[in-house]
Order: sequence, then structure tokens, then C-alpha cells
Amino acid sequence: MNSNAEYRRVRTAVFPVAGLGTRFLPATKDIPKEMMPLIDRPLIHHGVDEAVASGCTRVVFVTGQGKESICRYFEPSFELSALLRERGKGELADVVDSIYKLAEFHYAYQAKPLGLGHAVLCAEEFCRDEYFGLLLPDDVMTAEPTALAQLEAVREKYEGSVLCLEEVSPEDVSRYGIVDAEEIEPGVYRIKGLVEKPKPEEAPSRLAIMGRYLLSPKIFKHLKNLKRGAGGEYQLTDAIASLLEEEPVYATVYKGQRLDCGIKEGWIQATVVKALEDEKLRDIVLAAVAEYEASANGEKTK
Ligand code: G1P
Repeated sequence: MNSNAEYRRVRTAVFPVAGLGTRFLPATKDIPKEMMPLIDRPLIHHGVDEAVASGCTRVVFVTGQGKESICRYFEPSFELSALLRERGKGELADVVDSIYKLAEFHYAYQAKPLGLGHAVLCAEEFCRDEYFGLLLPDDVMTAEPTALAQLEAVREKYEGSVLCLEEVSPEDVSRYGIVDAEEIEPGVYRIKGLVEKPKPEEAPSRLAIMGRYLLSPKIFKHLKNLKRGAGGEYQLTDAIASLLEEEPVYATVYKGQRLDCGIKEGWIQATVVKALEDEKLRDIVLAAVAEYEASANGEKTK
């Protein structure tokens, strides 16, 4: 149990955003996937909202070529805001101004897409002395408390890095990092081993790592010693497996819903779920579906 009286909550959230977004071409030919809107804000804004709601005050984007619009989005837009105010649209100006005030934003550059482990290593200068959060923006988590806050509760109790887990079906294990773990209290695990994207018959369990991590700064030493792993990339999962030799790593099955925006089907589902959760949009979605079904049925009976 953690006996440190000076326990400090994680204040830095790292977002790897250098990926090419090839699954979303042609939409992502000229705009980053992270800037595509999910309802009324870009995907990345949803992730930053979660980090801020979890208590983070610093955000580090690990960007790559063609990702400048992400940086611009989180910068002040004084001209736009002044214009909106001049036109009596103060509420919209407040929305625009609230974005750059969300956190202190920093940027690291990943020159080549060499994998998640490599991306995290690029953020070292901002996180080398303290625990930090890592959020993969493709996974939109709706949870109360936030997924990151749920990981923090485990770290506070056990002191160590904490991973976010979900049980997946056997056919899906090869899409994720899979853990071998011992349950130490309901829903909380101590990790014994990890493997990145195993074949179903080689997976140690069906507990998959989801896109939220709380990582000890000791991870950087292990990232530096990494060899290329699954898919020829530098895998964070392999660095965590190596970290295990130095200190314990924990995990928790988060309570909440995950919307998988890493694939088109998941993005559509996320859009529908978010719209149904929104008081103003819910009726529009339900009416559109009812109208579509009525006209499809009408056509069938003709
Ligand atoms: C990454 C990680 C994997 C994790 C997944 C969660 O994979 O390498 O361990 O399970 O995120 O979304 P990617 O989706 O980048 O292939």
C-alpha cells in the first residue's frame, strides 16, 4: 500500500497523434484523423477534456508531419473571438476562448512512425521526473469518474504503473496488447506478463489493454533499450514487460463505455451513441432512423 504522504496526482497527459490515419482515407488525406469531428468537436478535444477532467494541467502532443492543425486548434484565436464578440456572439467566443485555456500545451515531434513505444519516448523531456498519463485518442472513454481517474485510484493504493483493461472476445485478442495477470481485488490486477497482438491460441488471457495508461517515469529507460517488436515497430507493451523486472505494474478493468474510433464502424457507432446521449440531438437521430425504416418498409410492400 502507498505510504507516501506527499502523493502527487498525475498532472501531465501525453497524446500520441503522429499516426497517418490510413484507415480513414480519403477523409484523412489532408486533415489529421484527430481533427475529424465527433459531434461538435474534434476527436482530440474529447481526449483532452478527459485529461483535464482527470486533473491534468499539462498536455503533450507527440505530433508528426502534417499535424500542424492540431497545434493551431489549441492556440488562442484572438481575431476570431473578437469578431464573434463584435457580432454579438459572445457565447461562441467564450467557447473558442475556452479551448486554449484547457491546459498548458507542449509539443514533441516524432519524425517517423516507428510505433507507440517510440512515440512515448519522444515525450521524455516533459515527463522524465514523474508519473504521467498516456491517452490514445482513438479510444473515446465515457466514464464517471474518468478512466484515467480510475487508474489513478489504483496507483494511489498500490504505487506503480497502471494499465486500463477490457475483456475482449477471442477473435479480437490479436488487435491489442494482452496481459497475463493475477486478480488482487475485484477488477484490479497485478501484471505478470504482457504480449502485443498475440495470435488467439498464444494469448495468455482475453484481458486487453485499452488506450489509457498511467506510467512510471522509469519506463523511459526501458523504452530506450527496446528492440523492434510486433509489426516491426517499437512497442510500448514490450517496454512495460521489461519494466516489470524492475517494479510492479497493475491494471484495472475500467467501469464505463469505450467508443473505438480507430475504425470506421466504431466511429459511426460513437457518433450515434454521443448523439443519443445529447438531449438536443437524440430526437433528430431517432426520427431519422424511424423515417428511414418507414420508407424502406413502404418500398418493400410496394
Ligand atoms: C496500441 C497498443 C496496444 C493496445 C491498443 C489499444 O495498439 O500497442 O497494446 O491494446 O493500442 O487501443 P494500436 O491500436 O496502436 O495498434
